Amino acid sequence: MDRKNKINYYELEEIFKAIVNSSDGFIYVCSKDHIIEYMSPKLIDRIGYDGTGKPCYKVLHELEDICPWCKDTKVFEGETQYWEIKSPKDNKWYKVLNSPIYHKDGSFSKLMIINDITEKKKENAADEKNDRLKLLSLMASGMAHDFNNLLTGILGYISLLKLPVVSFDDFKKYIENAEEGCKKARRLVNQLLAFSKGMPLTKEKVNLKILIEEITNFILSGKPYNCDITSPDDLWEIFADKIQIEQILQNLIINAVQAMPRGGNIVITLENIQITNYYELNANPGNYVRLTFKDFGKGISKSVLERIFDPFFTTKKDGSGLGLAIIQEIVKKHDGIIKVESELNKGTQFIIYLPISIQSNTLILEDFLPENTKTTKILIMDDDPMILSLCKEMIMKMGHKTETAKDGKKAEELIKSAIEKKDPFEILITDMIVVDGIGGVELIKKAKQIAPDIKIIIASAYCEDFNNDDNLRGKVNIFLKKPYTFDELKKAVNNLL
Ligand SMILES: Nc1ncnc2c1ncn2[C@@H]1O[C@H](COP(=O)(O)OP(=O)(O)OP(=O)(O)O)[C@@H](O)[C@H]1O
Ligand SMILES: [Mg+2]
Repeated sequence: MDRKNKINYYELEEIFKAIVNSSDGFIYVCSKDHIIEYMSPKLIDRIGYDGTGKPCYKVLHELEDICPWCKDTKVFEGETQYWEIKSPKDNKWYKVLNSPIYHKDGSFSKLMIINDITEKKKENAADEKNDRLKLLSLMASGMAHDFNNLLTGILGYISLLKLPVVSFDDFKKYIENAEEGCKKARRLVNQLLAFSKGMPLTKEKVNLKILIEEITNFILSGKPYNCDITSPDDLWEIFADKIQIEQILQNLIINAVQAMPRGGNIVITLENIQITNYYELNANPGNYVRLTFKDFGKGISKSVLERIFDPFFTTKKDGSGLGLAIIQEIVKKHDGIIKVESELNKGTQFIIYLPISIQSNTLILEDFLPENTKTTKILIMDDDPMILSLCKEMIMKMGHKTETAKDGKKAEELIKSAIEKKDPFEILITDMIVVDGIGGVELIKKAKQIAPDIKIIIASAYCEDFNNDDNLRGKVNIFLKKPYTFDELKKAVNNLL
């Protein structure tokens, strides 16, 4: 007789009892109509009485009806189910295993094993917090380092400009270098803003082919890379935030170059694509431009592939792991889709779909505008005196009349008195958040009540998404991101004339 057959039913029962008693979990069995048929001693101890014969939802959770999270149907179809719940009775977290038990007569019961995981949850939350702090510190030190370098350049060139004698050529060189530093700093801030919620996109018409040609030439010229770009002649233009789309392309190119350190080919394909069925790609039906970006580098292993879009995930010695996280964020903000395919030692391709449609709530700056000769009257509100005087200077250089206000209240008075004098403002350029007094939201609301025709430019580094703000919806004409240049402000103003 072998060992297996030696165990009789009595012994089997003893074995199960030992398993039940040594288990950390609370165990019970109940019928299809939720009547408890068995409760483990530990569960009886916990509840304070033996609830056999009573409904499980009443005994375990003091509910009057079946628990809303109950997965009976699946279990009685023969599937084992796991889930986590927070019990309304004691506010603790439990992991629940729910499995069918088949009876000889063909009926079912269900076995429940419940484990208290409250402590584990707390540990996980603490770990996540620690991870977030680590990421924050990593990010802060990375940014501080980059900014310091940029500021050294900007400050340095400005200090050279202040020397008693500077030749015209040097003057031009210093100014251009300082300006270049500022633009890089702006780009850096933009990268960070890609992660912020609620930042509206400044959309304009973008021809992806032209943009790609510019950027690939800029980054790859003189390097051992060959870049093939294929695009139909009638490629659709997309409406997108140009700076952010540039960011996508830059990050893709840099990754491809790093994957092919000795040089190689990059193949970029642009196509007009119509998505008619939501379920094809989990995307809204409509017209999209599909960008396929392919390199023939070292490729990505399956285990790495799952993590490449995680912020700060990197396999590179000097990588920050932000490139693809930023790309994914930007694509999402444009209601697009990104996919990746890769094979080790063969190469990688990223496929990005960007919708071409104009969203109803986006702001569009027309790129090409005839030179404007009309003069207008513009009110500027900003609580920062330097920005107020800079913006005033720029507006005057455009040939417009302007007045300034350091808060919403002053601006409101100026709008009123201009109307009384029958010389109203046509445009209001306003900051959103002022440290003291009435800010942008309140001012825009008031301005539109007093002067319904006044056009609004929000000039701000960051603001809540004003399209979601009931007070602002439909009232704002243009969102101008700070910091802006003379040309950008001019473009915004000219769009409204
Ligand atoms: N074209 C590619 N070929 C091979 N591996 C890639 C490619 N693109 C991304 N990866 C992998 O994905 C990881 C994450 O890429 P991501 O661009 O987010 O960060 P990074 O390049 O490591 O650092 P950063 O872009 O911030 O300098 C990379 O470290 C690399 O392992
Ligand atoms: Mg990268």
